[in-house]
Amino acid sequence: MNEPDSGERDTIVARRSSALDGEVRIGGAKNSVLKLMAACLGAEGRHVLANVPAISDVSLMCELLEAMGVIVTRDDHRLILDVPAELHTEAPYHLVERMRASIVVLGPLLARFGTARVALPGGDDFGPRPIDMHLRALESLGAVFSTEHGDISARADTLTGADVVLEYPSVGATENVLMAAVRAKGRTHIHNAAREPEIGDLAGFLNAMGAKVGWAGDRLRIDGVERLHPIRSDSGYRVIADRIEASTYLAAVGMCGGSVFLRGAVADHMTMLIRKLTEMGMHIAPDAAGVQATATGRLVAADISTLPYPGLATDYKPFLVAMLTMASGVAIVTENIFTGRFRYIDELRRMGADIRTEGHHAVIRGAEHLSGAPVRSHDIRAGAALVVAGLAAEGQTEVAGASHIDRGYEDLVGKLVGIGATVSRS
Ligand code: EPU
Repeated sequence: MNEPDSGERDTIVARRSSALDGEVRIGGAKNSVLKLMAACLGAEGRHVLANVPAISDVSLMCELLEAMGVIVTRDDHRLILDVPAELHTEAPYHLVERMRASIVVLGPLLARFGTARVALPGGDDFGPRPIDMHLRALESLGAVFSTEHGDISARADTLTGADVVLEYPSVGATENVLMAAVRAKGRTHIHNAAREPEIGDLAGFLNAMGAKVGWAGDRLRIDGVERLHPIRSDSGYRVIADRIEASTYLAAVGMCGGSVFLRGAVADHMTMLIRKLTEMGMHIAPDAAGVQATATGRLVAADISTLPYPGLATDYKPFLVAMLTMASGVAIVTENIFTGRFRYIDELRRMGADIRTEGHHAVIRGAEHLSGAPVRSHDIRAGAALVVAGLAAEGQTEVAGASHIDRGYEDLVGKLVGIGATVSRS
C-alpha cells in the first residue's frame, strides 16, 4: 500500500482540462473504515478489513491503535488488526488532535474494559465540534465522565441498555453509543440515530462480530451480548464505497464535461446527490458495478441545502459549490450541519467566483469562466473541490496544503490523470 505524500510536494497543480473520459475506481469509505477499526477494539483476536483506502487518516488510526497495543499489518488494501487481551485504554492528545474521529474509541473501550481516557478534541477548520451528545448518550448507559488536564476519563462498572435520545442525529455520537451498547446488559434504543450508509456499515460489521443491531421503525435497536468475536471470514469485511470520493469525480465530470464510469460507486447511497446533479443537467446511469456519469454543455444552477442523511450531505457541498460557480443562473446554498463550513469560498473567490455569504447561506452567481490562481486547502473536501475547480479554470491553479487532501483521498492526482485531467503534484 503506498503511503500518501506529505511534507514536501504539498501542492497540487491543476490546469484547464478538456472533456474527461474512462474509468475511475472508488475506494473504501474513510468515514466507515475509521469506525470499523475502532470497533475491532471490542474483541480480542485477529480482524481483517478489506477495501481499505490508502489515506493518511487510516495511517493515523493505525498509529492510535498501535499506541494502545494492537499489532497492525497493512497489505495492499487489506488491514489486519491483532487485538490483544489487554490494551492501554488511552488515546493521547497528539493523536486525537490530528484526527477528531479518534473519539469513537471511547464506546468500544468502555464496553470492553469499563474504562477509557481520551484527549478532548479541539475545534477544526469548519468551526467548533463539541462532543456533548456523545457523552450524554454514553451517560444514559451508565458511563461516568470527568475532565482533567484536557482528557476525558470515562468509567462504567456496568453498562445497561437504555432509551438513548439524541437531540440531533449526530454520526459520531450514534457510532460511539452503538459500539458501547452492543455489550451493555439488555436492550438499547437509540432515538433519532444517524442513518448515514456508514452507520449501516458499522452495524453490519458489529453483527458479523456477534452483536445484535437492527432498526426497529425509526429507532436503532441493540440487544447487548456477553462478548464479541472477530468476524469469521478469511477474506475479511469489505468496507463500503466512499460516496464522498465518488462525488468528487462526479463534480469533475460536471465541470469539465465528458463521460466517466465510477467503478464501485453505490448509487443507492447517493440518491439525493444524483437527483441534484440531474437537476443541474448531468446524466447519471447506475448499474450493479458502479455509476456512469456524463455531462455535456453548461450546468444549470440549483439550490442546495445540506441535511443529515438521507438529505444532501455537508461533505458534498464544496463540490456542488464549485460546480455552481460556473453553472448558468443563481443558486442559494444553505449549510445546516457545520455552519462555519464556508472558509474555502474565499479561495474560490480568488479564482473569480461570484459568491456572497450571509450567515450559513451563500448566494452563487454562475460565471462563464474561472481563472486559475494560487489557493490553499484547509480541509479534506474543500481542498479536493479546489482541485476540481482548477480543472475547469483558465490557466493554472496551485492548491497548497495538499496533505489535507491526502487525509481522505487515495491518489486523487493519479485517478484524475487516469480520466484525462491535467493535474500534477509538485
Ligand atoms: N454535534 C454537537 N455535539 C456532539 C456531536 C455533534 O453539537 O456531541 C454537532 C456538530 O458540531 C455538527 C453536527 O452536530 O454541527 C453534526 O456532527 P456529527 O456528529 O454528525 O459529525 P461527525 O461525526 O463529527 C462525521 C464525518 C464528517 C461529516 C459529518 C456529517 C467522520 C470521521 N466525519 O462527522 O466528515 O461531515 O459526520 O455527516 O465520520 C470529512 O469526512 O471530512 C468529514 C468532516
